[in-house]
Order: sequence, then structure tokens, then C-alpha cells
Amino acid sequence: MKKLIFTIFGSTGDLTSRKLLPAIAKLYKDKLIPDETQVICLGRKNLNTKDYLTYMNDEASTELDLKTLEKIVIYHKMQITNSDEYDYLKEMIEIETQKDTKQLYYLAIGPELFFDVAKNINHANLVDKNNLNQSIIFEKPFGHDLESAKKINQKLWEYFDEKQIFRIDHYLGKEMIQNIMMVRFANRIFEDIWYNRTIKNVKIIVKETEGILNRGGYYDQSGALKDMVQSHLLQMLSLVGMEVPVSYHSEDVKNEKVKVFENVTIDSNSLVFGQYDGYLKEDKVKEDSKTETFVFLKASVNTPRFKGVPFYLMTGKKLDKKESVIIIEFEETSEQRKWNLPLSTNKLYIKIAPEDGVGLRFNSKVPGLSDGVEEVELEYCAACEAVGNMSEAYEKLLLDATEHHKSLFTRWDEIELSWKLIDHIKQKQLDPIIYKDYKELKTLIKDKLDVDMP
Ligand code: BG6
Repeated sequence: MKKLIFTIFGSTGDLTSRKLLPAIAKLYKDKLIPDETQVICLGRKNLNTKDYLTYMNDEASTELDLKTLEKIVIYHKMQITNSDEYDYLKEMIEIETQKDTKQLYYLAIGPELFFDVAKNINHANLVDKNNLNQSIIFEKPFGHDLESAKKINQKLWEYFDEKQIFRIDHYLGKEMIQNIMMVRFANRIFEDIWYNRTIKNVKIIVKETEGILNRGGYYDQSGALKDMVQSHLLQMLSLVGMEVPVSYHSEDVKNEKVKVFENVTIDSNSLVFGQYDGYLKEDKVKEDSKTETFVFLKASVNTPRFKGVPFYLMTGKKLDKKESVIIIEFEETSEQRKWNLPLSTNKLYIKIAPEDGVGLRFNSKVPGLSDGVEEVELEYCAACEAVGNMSEAYEKLLLDATEHHKSLFTRWDEIELSWKLIDHIKQKQLDPIIYKDYKELKTLIKDKLDVDMP
């Protein structure tokens, strides 16, 4: 690829300042994308490129690399729903386009606008269906339920082939999520015990300390179940629960993930919904909102490998710490059951954030004269090993999109099946309990289901 044109629709938002611009600047600086890269940022604000970058820098959580971005970014004010306004964009892109140019269209906008934009870029002859040098990228929410997701998808398929569509779930770009298959399938010690005979339960946990920040408008319509479980947590579940794929090509891996989704059931008696105290006072939240900011649920993967193993999924805002982790707990040994000692079960921690790595906890004799036993941990810290080389999820995802690698993006059938599960839960119309802190929720889960959550 000689040249890259990266067009961002909705470029004045949070996603662009916090994730896209930093990732693009880093990839460009590290020479991972072409020297001839052009980033066209489109938005409604009346700004010139210099003022746009200053504005985005003020909005960003960490300072942007303005020196790099000034070389490649052009801002253009445009009403993206108005097809007449695409002429300028077309002119800009056509002047720049050569045969070997990759064009990526990033929709950093609400899904209700996807169709208009897809239609407009198609009618302006900026994209041809099936041209793999032209792709569209967007993120969740992929609709707000199965029906709406289907509609969006069908409309996108009018203008793009599935091969040209990149659906981002940024968790799939995280280092340790990319590493799950490697840990599982490239290690005899794990692969041989990845069964219901030896695994007692799996906990998939994403805790956050922040509230909903300034995203009330979106979040109040969504809630933790649609915002986090439908995408990130179910994706993690599928990687832990899948069978060995025929190959590691994107389609083969996805085929196995889809089989997991087809076999997942949710125990509706296990559901715990919470809403943090103070949520109703957040900006753009309905005063009597029943939206959940916390979810706990027990799922099962009804395959021969995992039948009978509970998968506990938990996520929430305003909890005790920011942590994303998968904990695989193993059964006791038969010897262990006979001894009357305070022994722990073995646990494998796949640590996704804030640390990236793997931890294995097991029982060991207390060193020295004592006969006591203690739980110890073997630890691998991916971030420590890769000093200076750890990439942000978005760097990996954007780089893969430029190279047309689709493994870390979701396919339509994965989305379809996960929406089915979420719609099913939503039918229960559970009211959330109000929580002041995580301890209350932890106690509630223990009392209700006898499950210890960390
Ligand atoms: C996003 C959700 O997809 O993931 C947010 O919309 C959430 O509500 C975020 O805060 C969590 O991502 P991370 O990478 O900070 O764990």
C-alpha cells in the first residue's frame, strides 16, 4: 500500500480525541502506515485545521502529538447527512487517490447515521461494493437490539460487502485478549485441563471506578448490559469457551466463536442489576431512569467441553477499582479433598487491565521449618516484558484495518447471536437495586447465589 486516506465522520467527538488521533499519530510516527497518509476529519464545527487540532488537544485526556498530526490531518466542516455536501470530499479524495490507495471510512457517529453516510459515500462514487481497498469501520452500539442491529446491517450490505466492513470491539485489540488463544492452544499445561472435568468456574469481570462521565444521552438508552456485556464480555466468553479452530485464519476462528454463542444460555434467576447512587442526577439521564450501571449474571456454555461449568459475568461503573480480568478456577484434587487443610483452589488469571499478563495461583508449602501451606502466584507481566512496546488497542485495530486483517473484528453472526442473548435478558425488565459501593453488591451476590466475587 502506497497511500492511505483515512476519513473520519464525526471527528470532533470523544472517540477521535481520546483514541483515534493518538493511535494514528503513533502509527505514522513509527512508520507503520504510509508516508503518504492523509487523515480527513469531518464535523459540523466551523474550524480550520489548526483550530480543530487545538480544540481536540484540549478535549483529549493526554496531550496529542500535534507535530505529527499537523502533517497529515485536514479538517473540513460538513453536514454529513446532506448528500450535496459530498462534492468537496469527493474532490479531495479523488485528487489524492491513486491505484494503490487504501481508503478507510471511520464512522465515529451514532448508528442512526450509518445508513445516510454509507449511502452518501456510495452515491458520491467514493466506494464500490467489493473493492477491498475501500472499507468502512465503526463501533458499537451496533443498534440497540437485534431488530435494529439487523436493519443497520442490511442497509450497510446494500453498499458494502461484508469483507469491506470492520466492526470494532476495542477489547479484541487489547494485548491479553489477543493472547488468550495463544495461552490456551500453545501450552499443553493449559490445553489439557481446559475442560469441565477440571474447570470449576470462569469469572469474567470488568470493573470501573468512573461513572458515566458526560455520556448520559447514550448511556441512559443503553445500560451496562448493552454497553458492555453484549460486546466485550461475551467476546471474552467466546474466546475462553471456543474449541480449537481448524486454522487461525479469521473465518475459522470466528466459526468457532459463533458455535459458542449458539450454545450459551443465561440463568435468569442469577441476574443482579444495579444502579449507582447518584446516577439519576447525571446529565441527560431521565429522572426516573431504571437503566442499570451494574450487571452480574451466570451463563452456561452447553458444549461437551464446558457443560456444567458456570461462567459468571460481571461489569459495572463506580465500583471499587478499575480492573478487567478473567479468572479460571480449577477443581480441587482428590487428595486435596481428603486433607483437612485450608487449601485454595488453583486459579489462572488472565489480566487484561490495568496490568496485562497471566497469573497462576497454587498451593505451596510455607518455606522453612513450618509445615503450613500458602497460596503463591507465578506471574507473567506482558507490559513489563514489552517496555515501550505495548500498543494501545486502537493502534493494533487501525493497523489491522489498513492491512485488511479481519481477525480482531467481529462478524455479523457473532453480533446477531449476542443480541439474541441480550434481548432475552431485557425481556425480564428487572429493576436495578441502588448501590453505594461494590461491597453491597458483592454481599448480595454471595447471599443470593453463594458465589464469591473478588
Ligand atoms: C466502552 C464502553 O466500550 O468500554 C464504556 O462504552 C466503558 O462505557 C469502556 O467505559 C471500558 O473500556 P476500557 O478499555 O476502559 O476497559
